[in-house]
Amino acid sequence: MRPHDRLNSDLRFRVAGRAVTVVPRSVVAIALPRPEFLEVDEQLTEAGYECMAIQSATDLDELLASRPDVNVAILDCETDFDRTLEMYAVLHENGRNVPALILMPSRSLGRMGLGGVRDEYFTRPYSAESLRWRVEAMLIRVENVSVNGEVANGMVGGPQEAGDGAEVDQGGSRSPDEAGGGDGKIVIVFNPKGGVGKTTISINVGAALQIRKGQRVLLVDCDTITGHIAASLGLERPRTLADAWREDAKTGVSETVSQIATRHSSGISVLVMAQSPLHTEVLEPKRVAAAIIGARRFYDWVILDMHPDYGPLNQALFAQADKILVPVTPDVPCIRAAVQFREVAAELGLRERLALVINRANSGVAASDVERVIGLPSLARIRSAGLLFVRAADEGKAAVERFPTAKVVGEIDGLANRLMNAAPGAGDKPRMSPRSRIAGSFRAFLDRLGAQVS
Ligand SMILES: Nc1ncnc2c1ncn2[C@@H]1O[C@H](COP(=O)(O)OP(=O)(O)OP(=O)(O)O)[C@@H](O)[C@H]1O
Ligand SMILES: [Mg+2]
Repeated sequence: MRPHDRLNSDLRFRVAGRAVTVVPRSVVAIALPRPEFLEVDEQLTEAGYECMAIQSATDLDELLASRPDVNVAILDCETDFDRTLEMYAVLHENGRNVPALILMPSRSLGRMGLGGVRDEYFTRPYSAESLRWRVEAMLIRVENVSVNGEVANGMVGGPQEAGDGAEVDQGGSRSPDEAGGGDGKIVIVFNPKGGVGKTTISINVGAALQIRKGQRVLLVDCDTITGHIAASLGLERPRTLADAWREDAKTGVSETVSQIATRHSSGISVLVMAQSPLHTEVLEPKRVAAAIIGARRFYDWVILDMHPDYGPLNQALFAQADKILVPVTPDVPCIRAAVQFREVAAELGLRERLALVINRANSGVAASDVERVIGLPSLARIRSAGLLFVRAADEGKAAVERFPTAKVVGEIDGLANRLMNAAPGAGDKPRMSPRSRIAGSFRAFLDRLGAQVS
């Protein structure tokens, strides 16, 4: 932190030669680029406020812990969206409710009709002086609220309401560190053989985690050749990673995976690599892998539906997986493919992370024989469900969403339970830390408003 070097935050004056503290001053936490910070600081100091520069959620957390007189924060969604989400969450975790004045990209504001009860928004260019009046007005409101004893919920009509239905749990939860600092689990769904149910299982286990377990799920179609997650979920021409990176290269503004991903009606975020296998030149495998792995910060589960190959992207992702689900259908060619993968995984030191999902379990070799021959345990047995998955896909829905009471959906639900139980620290209860849940809700709020606009 680079706090401004001030001796105290109290308004003092002298009575008979003695310094007397009269009114505690408000502190304004500011996360703006340095030159802008200095201008705003000058204005606010003149108005009698103390400014503290912050650069991260940790800075802000420390500041709030040490200074109960921080009554407004100025955040910058334009310069660093992800960091701002974290800081926003810090303002609202542990029973706090510090209002924020948030700088938004000018193209978003106005069209979005943003505005919670206590948060406010502004855009660049702005004058430091105008910001001063905004801050003063907000602080007056804070004072009025506390004087009247009505602590307003600053998020009414805002992020918490607009979130994915998860309540913000502000007590009794693990700290962010204990919860892995918001780090989600990476689950890979892979079998070198095609047509065994990788996409079906990826979509439905993702939907079960999101809809039934209150988890935040990112579903990534890593298959640029035969992938059809978007089509199965009725997402027509979603923005792809390749589209976004091409734009980013032109504008110089980089986006995170969570900003690029498309929200599906089930609540899961979907990331597609490219519209066509011919236009993937921008998708450098290491960069793709790093972006996907980085998305763990904002999701509880990142589920990867992989193309059946052992290329550089898949190898980079395998190394990062917490769990690798291997769907197998009970037939000899598929069992052979799974045995081959088990060998490759052993060579890569990943064997312990593998678990079978016996798909169409009731339609061939007995499930126990499949496990024995492949030499891996199974996490679930999924029955053959006729046209149920096809019918759900025709409506652009996961079967979990469309046929919630079907037996096969119960089996997928069991798979989601076992994944959660296998993940250290995860339980049937949503395992998000309060901070990541608030940040997630705020992101969902902005996403939803953005979707309404477009
Ligand atoms: N348990 C099941 N019951 C009924 N149909 C299923 C089941 N599992 C998968 N299917 C169907 O089988 C077909 C192939 O499944 P899916 O696309 O999920 O396989 P895949 O492994 O992703 O294939 P690819 O390697 O081509 O990506 C789909 O039409 C899907 O609806
Ligand atoms: Mg597939």
